Amino acid sequence: MPDNTKTKESEIEPSRRSFLTKLWIGLGFIALIEFIWVLIAFLRPRKPKVSEANAEAIITAGPVEGFAPGSVTAFVRGRFYLSRLEDGGFLALSRKCTHLGCTVPWIEKKNKFECPCHASAFDITGNVISPPAPRALDIYKVFIENNIVKVDTDKLIKRSDFRAEQVTYPK
Ligand code: FES
Repeated sequence: MPDNTKTKESEIEPSRRSFLTKLWIGLGFIALIEFIWVLIAFLRPRKPKVSEANAEAIITAGPVEGFAPGSVTAFVRGRFYLSRLEDGGFLALSRKCTHLGCTVPWIEKKNKFECPCHASAFDITGNVISPPAPRALDIYKVFIENNIVKVDTDKLIKRSDFRAEQVTYPK
């Protein structure tokens, strides 16, 4: 008597095998498409986004003429001082002492910043004139658009001392 079971299995086997082969090819194709999609997404140049947080970080200080040469104006919201140097240039100074981080007030009568914690002093450019502060006050980027002074408080710029290239001048 012929073995019917074996005959049926041998008929089923090729179709099962071809189904599995097609399945693997299909899955491989999907994986390939996914890989190409990820690769394209990775290589595509990104557009710089101005996020809301970034936009909030830009503080509009005011028109250039609103700041007298040799003056210091406190901006509580941005936590910085806007110094206008005698030559007309602008610097935005962090109000944090570079010694241990106390807030340094501008003492107009003495024409300097004096830290109440350990008596460090800084001049109008933020340079150290009395230690223990180890370096000048940090700064923020200042830019002037249509004669309006703006300060980008998003990124604090650390520095060891004052240099002329840190100053922004009206055009
Ligand atoms: S924190 Fe300003 S001198 Fe120490």
